[in-house]
Amino acid sequence: MVKKTGIVLVLLLSIASFSQTKKARIVEDFNKNWNFKLGDYPQAINANFNIADWRTLNLPHDWSIEGAFDKDSKTKQAQGFLPAGKGWYRKVFTIPANWKNKAISIEFDGVFKNSEVFINGHSLGIRPNGYISFGYELSQYLYFGKPNVIAVKVDNDAQPNSRWYTGSGIYRNVRLVVSEKLHVAKWGTYVTTPEVSAQKASVNCEVTIDNENASAKEFKLVTSIVNANNVEVANSTSIEKFEPKTSAKKVHNLTVNQPKLWDTENPYMYKVLTRIYENSKLIDNYETPLGFRFFSFDAEKGFSLNGKPTKILGVCLHHDNGALGAVENIHAVKRKLKILKEMGANAIRMAHNPHSLEMMQLCDEMGFIVQDEAFDVWKKKKVTNDYHKDWDAWHKQDLEDFIKRDRNHPSVMMWSIGNEIREQFDSTGIAITRELAQIVKSLDKTRPVTSALTENVIEKNFIYQSGALDLLGFNYKHEDYKDFPVRFKGQKILASESVSALETRGHYDQPSDVIKTWPPKYGAPFDGNADWTVSAYDQVKSYWGATHEDNWKTIKKQDFMAGTFIWTGFDYIGEPDPYPYPARSSYFGIIDLAGFPKDVYYMYQSEWTTKPVLHIFPHWNWTAGQEVDVWAYYNNADEVELFLNGKSLGKKSKQNDDLHISWRVKFEPGTIKAISRKGGKVVLEKEIKTAGEASKIALVANKKTLKNDSYDLVYVTVSITDKDGNLVPNANNLIDFEVIGGGKLVGVDNGYQAGWDSFKANSCKVFNGKCIAIIQSNGKKENIQLKASTGIDILAKAIEIKVE
Ligand code: GAL
Repeated sequence: MVKKTGIVLVLLLSIASFSQTKKARIVEDFNKNWNFKLGDYPQAINANFNIADWRTLNLPHDWSIEGAFDKDSKTKQAQGFLPAGKGWYRKVFTIPANWKNKAISIEFDGVFKNSEVFINGHSLGIRPNGYISFGYELSQYLYFGKPNVIAVKVDNDAQPNSRWYTGSGIYRNVRLVVSEKLHVAKWGTYVTTPEVSAQKASVNCEVTIDNENASAKEFKLVTSIVNANNVEVANSTSIEKFEPKTSAKKVHNLTVNQPKLWDTENPYMYKVLTRIYENSKLIDNYETPLGFRFFSFDAEKGFSLNGKPTKILGVCLHHDNGALGAVENIHAVKRKLKILKEMGANAIRMAHNPHSLEMMQLCDEMGFIVQDEAFDVWKKKKVTNDYHKDWDAWHKQDLEDFIKRDRNHPSVMMWSIGNEIREQFDSTGIAITRELAQIVKSLDKTRPVTSALTENVIEKNFIYQSGALDLLGFNYKHEDYKDFPVRFKGQKILASESVSALETRGHYDQPSDVIKTWPPKYGAPFDGNADWTVSAYDQVKSYWGATHEDNWKTIKKQDFMAGTFIWTGFDYIGEPDPYPYPARSSYFGIIDLAGFPKDVYYMYQSEWTTKPVLHIFPHWNWTAGQEVDVWAYYNNADEVELFLNGKSLGKKSKQNDDLHISWRVKFEPGTIKAISRKGGKVVLEKEIKTAGEASKIALVANKKTLKNDSYDLVYVTVSITDKDGNLVPNANNLIDFEVIGGGKLVGVDNGYQAGWDSFKANSCKVFNGKCIAIIQSNGKKENIQLKASTGIDILAKAIEIKVE
């Protein structure tokens, strides 16, 4: 058992460093050095169980993404043909003898799914819901100063159980929380801002405190509000007395003068620090995020933030991180949100389940309005083994825990109790909606309760009929919106889901040719190709959806409509609807699975931002004489002039509610160039050259330095170019990767929806000229070299990334 000794030593070292910090509460990263094995090992709860053939790994971990795509997989197409099954995790750890009188608990941010956690042979509980955060008190079962065994059973075997890729395993962070027996309870603060103006904000801090001691305790409770520079701007103190074994709520009211408001452009964050002192000694400290903002939904004027009319310009996101699978990593989430922010999105809908703590934290910090969503199914199933099986026993607790975890985030402005729930067609929907709305209101009255509804005649929808929704969410059917102010007089309305158009990055079927058979029929051969690509001109859509342009044209004109959430921001694994095998991931994203924007990204950027935009497409490698549609998305200009090899093809400008302009151009090799002008002055120029033969690899990293913390990620974009650096638009070379130094390759992807190679391979085929390599710190403080090489014609290329 040499391994065990190693683990113990590492932990003791990290504990020693914790005890030197000033904070009373210890929150320890508990992700490192777990053992894992696929299969079912009930005996693994015992200390003497032999784990010689188990893998050692760090969490978060998703075993599905490590497996091979399999057409016969029980998860089926909706979940991306990846494996599921059962697996066990186990970790041996020692805690110091002097922690005997502490409250020690373990927190899991998400385990997919049906977890059961055991400590030293005792079951702490089960948790069927794979998206919910949960924790267990451990103290009573722990051995102090001696090894303890924690074992986690994960059972994702009953399939299919989802309409999209879920991943399997302990795929979010785990931590150990150590405090005195008098402490702030789990999710024990509830901070609201009953009044907010530029002059003054009032803050109500409700704190739940547990006294787990066998004796009464007298203590000082201190609440401070600190600004983004950690300067205290308000505080409040009270002396409290708690009887033994009690839990109670205490309220502090504070005022902050001239608060800096939180909005989507300047998401200014404060913090509430809750401290407990016993005999002048700090015995607990707890942090709560705080942002000052006020918002309203109005039946006529739509949404406003801090009194300013604001359209919700949102996207729906599923929880996977592309090639990383369900593995949660703050750096992966930050990259996604940054790409969306640059597009102009100001809102995220958490489809269709609780997302990670990191996602919530980043939405606060980066300024996104959040629709936080609890469920995709209630009691009636969508697929055989989905959450409906757990509904009766778990929905109340899951919903309560979800609200308690997320209600302090200023970014959250709506609670969605469900997406396209089956009970909307069934009168039982009335009672369930009322019950869920009441649960939400019992924990938070500061945000509206909504639900994403679908049906031809919404008036017949039972969730709507319950009368319990504060905000009506409508999915699709944008043509009907114009009548809503009359049909739903006085109701607040949001297009909770829209579009579901399909694109493959870098693939172009000419709209002028294809439009003849418009609109496409569901799954008809015309709207997709034999290689499972679809055109990236905004022309292919699901039968229930709309093109991006049609949808946005409608919504931008309707003031009563609070805004919209486009399905989806990024492609996600699974649900390649309507395309069958071998497609294995969705086409709906504005951005592909690897994180490369599709062309329509720039339509949104031209509409949703004020920065100057000019984007032309397609690429310029066609057959001589072929007629090509050249499209341009632009803003901040009166006109755009197009040139082919220096010859003007004319000036054009958007008419009426156009969102793009286009030219039909007879192809000749060379340079296609666009110039946008305002008042005769050039705003932007863009050109695309006909690429010659593939002859170089270009590597571009999304950051210059990586932290040696074994979490940090760098995404390296790999492009195949000709000798002059022009992207070769149809290149499909296989790239072999080698990483040396302080990093390891954790994922590769090219965004192709029907790719059948593993995301975990050491090589990747570029698709339409590009792929991505994701490198993670391996903890070593050594600079990283990524080497990329391919066939003899193309020079191998290396890039160095500094590690700090
Ligand atoms: C919606 C549904 C989403 C997704 C989408 C695909 O109806 O809410 O989860 O399935 O369709 O177009």
